[in-house]
Amino acid sequence: MSGNSFGRIFRVTTFGESHGPYIGAVVDGVPPGLEISESYINEELARRRPGQSSITTGRREEDKVEIISGVIDGKTTGMPVTLLIRNRDVRSKDYESIRDVYRPGHADYGYIMRYGLRDWRGGGRSSGRETAARVAAGAVAKIILKEYGVKIIGYTRKIGRLEIESIDYSFIEENILRVPDREKVAQMINIIEEAKKSGDSVGGEVEVIVKGVPAGIGDPVFDKIEALLAHGIMSIGAIKSFEVGVGKRAAEMLGSEYNDEFINDGGKIKTRTNNAGGILGGITTGEDIVLRCAVRPTGSISIKQRTVDVHGRPREIEIEGRHDPCIVPRIVPVVEAMVAMVVVDCIMMRKALPPAL
Ligand SMILES: Cc1cc2nc3c(=O)[nH]c(=O)nc-3n(C[C@H](O)[C@H](O)[C@H](O)COP(=O)(O)O)c2cc1C
Repeated sequence: MSGNSFGRIFRVTTFGESHGPYIGAVVDGVPPGLEISESYINEELARRRPGQSSITTGRREEDKVEIISGVIDGKTTGMPVTLLIRNRDVRSKDYESIRDVYRPGHADYGYIMRYGLRDWRGGGRSSGRETAARVAAGAVAKIILKEYGVKIIGYTRKIGRLEIESIDYSFIEENILRVPDREKVAQMINIIEEAKKSGDSVGGEVEVIVKGVPAGIGDPVFDKIEALLAHGIMSIGAIKSFEVGVGKRAAEMLGSEYNDEFINDGGKIKTRTNNAGGILGGITTGEDIVLRCAVRPTGSISIKQRTVDVHGRPREIEIEGRHDPCIVPRIVPVVEAMVAMVVVDCIMMRKALPPAL
């Protein structure tokens, strides 16, 4: 099965199914001599795992990583780093009664059309569980980015139609929704709890700011950095849009409003505004990279839905099991991980292909 690897120099392959014994990632292109610890990766995994609060699923995945290759005495060797995460607390029984049914809003029908069979246990490979492996690989990318002074900050921008109006970075990890606006959290939790009460689900929006990326990172034409970021982010289950800078609002602006004027700020070239979101022509400008993506409402809902089974017979389905009424806060670290992988890969490409002698 292709489609399981991402990146050019910093290349990540994930493997494993939701209810198989393990999931994990093989990360190639990690420079030698880098100090990496399981505890840092575990901290990142804890931000993604379910069971963090009343609005996430009751499933308790321990999510402890084991580094099984590419590291000696706490330092990378330059060989592939393999990260293994054991799947605990799987309840495949919840899925037995619907193994032949196409769940609305899920990948089941597409997988059957593509492969002729599918791992029906917990969604198999299409499950959000796969993204734990991405978060582990992204943690390795973040360790490399730290060396370059690059910081990635992700948060929840919207739940349903309710949007933040202010940003306090220090508040993000202090609340269960990863919302940076203190005034909005209670209302947002309420929106999710209302949906949960009626067996329904809600979506929202994730925003990511990347600080400290130097100007001149990215490649032209097909590998523009925003194209790679879109690829990485759009490959996450449940993500339905990608925007950079002002995004689709650009369509309504005049050129004189959109263009970011350059200034010389004590010898450093900067822009007065950042409508372009830190990227021009696919190459970074040194301003913050600003990205946004829409998260659809969770597919698994307990409200009765009509569908068909693999024989085309009409069926009714009420999805049992432990599912999040809203996955937006858990997706924040996954988006950060994909952004980290892309930025590291682009920095490595910049080093591999210098512009002039
Ligand atoms: C971190 C994470 C957790 C997820 N958890 C669930 C879940 O509990 N229930 C669910 O129906 N979908 C969940 N998803 C989304 C599904 O994987 C996704 O919607 C499904 O495979 C269909 O793909 P699509 O929405 O990209 O078309 C999760 C996704 C991520 C990234």
